[in-house]
Amino acid sequence: MGRLVVVSNRLADPRKPAAGGLAVALGETLKKTGGLWFGWSGKVIENGTPGEGEVRVNQAGPVTLAELDLSQEDHDAYYRGYANGVLWPVFHYRLDLAHFEAGHLGGYRRVNQLFARKLFPLLKRDDIVWIHDYHLIPLAAELRAMGCEARIGFFLHIPLPPPPILTAIPSHEWLMRALFAYDLVGFQNHADLQHFAQYVQAEATAEPVGPNQFRAFNRTVHANAFPIGIDVAEFQRLGQAKEARDTYESTKAEYSRRRLLIGVDRLDYSKGLPQRIRAFRELLRLYPENRHSATLLQIASPSREDVEAYGDIQRELESLCGSINGDFGDFDWMPIRYIHRTVARRRLPGLYRACAVALVTPLRDGMNLVAKEFVAAQDPDDPGVLVLSRFAGAAEQMKAALIINPYDTHGTAQVIQQALQMSQSERRERHAALMENIRQFDVHWWCREFLDTLRSSRAAPVES
Ligand code: ADP
Ligand code: F6P
Repeated sequence: MGRLVVVSNRLADPRKPAAGGLAVALGETLKKTGGLWFGWSGKVIENGTPGEGEVRVNQAGPVTLAELDLSQEDHDAYYRGYANGVLWPVFHYRLDLAHFEAGHLGGYRRVNQLFARKLFPLLKRDDIVWIHDYHLIPLAAELRAMGCEARIGFFLHIPLPPPPILTAIPSHEWLMRALFAYDLVGFQNHADLQHFAQYVQAEATAEPVGPNQFRAFNRTVHANAFPIGIDVAEFQRLGQAKEARDTYESTKAEYSRRRLLIGVDRLDYSKGLPQRIRAFRELLRLYPENRHSATLLQIASPSREDVEAYGDIQRELESLCGSINGDFGDFDWMPIRYIHRTVARRRLPGLYRACAVALVTPLRDGMNLVAKEFVAAQDPDDPGVLVLSRFAGAAEQMKAALIINPYDTHGTAQVIQQALQMSQSERRERHAALMENIRQFDVHWWCREFLDTLRSSRAAPVES
């Protein structure tokens, strides 16, 4: 079996904690399989030359990490400008937040070419190459142009919007054509797969040529949904370790007279944080019995702070939390504890377990692993309740959660109240159903399913 080569913009030492679904999932996967992980080092060289960068190779347990530095100009155009200023907002249905600038697309192409130039010499003949996420859509096309014949798969961790939104990107045809350089393209859920099928049929007059096979731009590509999961067993082991148990005990002791609700997110406008906070205010207004007794613990890790929209959402969130604490808080009770920090991963299971309700309420999300982590951390005899947005990819699988529409403040508040009042038997029943699903479709299933499909998929070569 060939070596696994994983390529992603963000990489992390799998032995250390990380925030962000991709880094967490790939770290768990590679720890088991071993292989090469190639990506951006996270380091920006101020006076670096655009299109150039150093690669450093380090061994991290069974994983070889190959890290590429980026010049300031490349970082600004590729990561900040195009990936996070165009693709992220549009793919999360936020055309209003997208900034299209020709120079940014140029930087995106340049960095993908740089990745290809630096990666190609490291590849061995029978490697299986797995490229991740929206930063690197054109990477396979660049590798193919250099003569790479390896099997190459692509997984999109974020949603793919339907054609009326996708086609607002000036370079949409170039981007979607680039997907046809892969042997296999994976999405988080069936809705995204459907959007892909609709796009290639409408815009590229592609025909489905078999189950989950599409032919366009003179190539045939396999595509399917592979919902990402968590390492349930590993997360539960973490939950039994001292740090998680201590966190559980101290949180329980501190909030002994209160019910805790929890939100854990990167501070991103896709996560629906202001809507969540407004729903919590509505809960306190509609059901005054929760005043003095319910506390929302919102942990938001800093993210992409050099992108304007992220500064805006941070200010909005801080002002909302401040006003609710001012309006409803008392000498002995603050309704919201807002923490703008990344919490050590070892403590997370303890925090989740101490909470009666999790609010996972994104406006749009590829999957959302926090929903799965919360379920995995619960005591099955006395579990907390998951309140989940219908717009999270996870909602397609986690049907036993309480599903809400995050735009409906009043409706969400009513569902939170339902969660707080749910009987123990209903909580157990829902939790058991959720557990069964996240156990069956864990991160190892995801990895196996994708790689087995990739090994058996071979896109037809380009026709002359
Ligand atoms: P995304 O990929 O958009 O960040 P996910 O919910 O899929 O969203 O994944 C987020 C991952 O990062 C989860 O594993 C979660 O535990 C972790 N994470 C998110 N926010 C924090 C935080 N504030 N502190 C610690 N870990 C966090
Ligand atoms: O899972 C979605 C994702 O965009 C990953 O691609 C990314 O690594 C993560 O969220 C965190 O974002 P960033 O890498 O920009 O910090």
